[in-house]
Amino acid sequence: MNFHEFEHDDWEKLPKRYHDAFSTLTTQAIGPLLDSVLAKKGTRLLDVATGPGYVAAAAAARGADTVGLDFAAAMVAEARRNYSKITFKEGDAEDLPFPDASFDAVTMNFGLLHLARPDRALAEACRVLRRGGRFAFTVWAKPEEARGLGIVLGAIQKHGDMKVPLPSGPPFFRFSDPEECRRALLQAGFESPAVRTVPQTWRFKSPEELWDFMLGGTVRTGALLRAQTPAALEAIRAEVIALSSSEVPMPAVLASGIKK
Ligand SMILES: C[S@@+](CC[C@H](N)C(=O)[O-])C[C@H]1O[C@@H](n2cnc3c(N)ncnc32)[C@H](O)[C@@H]1O
Repeated sequence: MNFHEFEHDDWEKLPKRYHDAFSTLTTQAIGPLLDSVLAKKGTRLLDVATGPGYVAAAAAARGADTVGLDFAAAMVAEARRNYSKITFKEGDAEDLPFPDASFDAVTMNFGLLHLARPDRALAEACRVLRRGGRFAFTVWAKPEEARGLGIVLGAIQKHGDMKVPLPSGPPFFRFSDPEECRRALLQAGFESPAVRTVPQTWRFKSPEELWDFMLGGTVRTGALLRAQTPAALEAIRAEVIALSSSEVPMPAVLASGIKK
């Protein structure tokens, strides 16, 4: 199975667990994301990798003429259930099913790090924008800052094996580097790239939630955990629960550019 199929298979199973784990977290970046693309009444906006549709719904609430797109049929069904008045379409971020220059704004909230060919998706976002249109995306900050990820990856490094066989994908934290965001945006055809950090906090009702959310609500990290030996997994779990607290910082890197 290649990386694209691996991601796709899991996202088809994840809508409910993703919502339970991440809806209160990834929605914290939506205001700054929509501000970066100047979303307002009448903006033709495409939200790529829309998942359950949170960004699309917030854009529509601003009066934008919004379409949400995701490659998982189960996510599209979930988004339609959540927001029945918004148009959601099944499709691939790396091969957008829209003509050139059909949008004023394109957003992607925590989608880029799941793609097999992220540079292709940046070029596609640029293609479907009109000249002067704006694109913005978010990814997680590095694990030293995004502590929910840092705690889990640190525990695997300490007690487990980071090199268990999994379909190989692009580096998870590639776009956590602002310089790399700028470089990739320029290469895809954008100008005036801008990158900043958006503070976010992940809040938990119990010490076990960080563990449960990462094990059951994520694709790559969940698979990495499930591939550990039972003994290693138990040691990792104990460490994650010991280091977790009722809230952990999970800042986002927000990058944007303007189509030349
Ligand atoms: C981490 S979720 C983000 C969901 C949502 N944007 C949010 O703010 O919470 C990533 C989403 O990207 C979708 N996705 C992954 N690869 C994709 C691709 N190649 N094309 C379209 N969607 C993709 C997944 O199905 C999933 O819904």
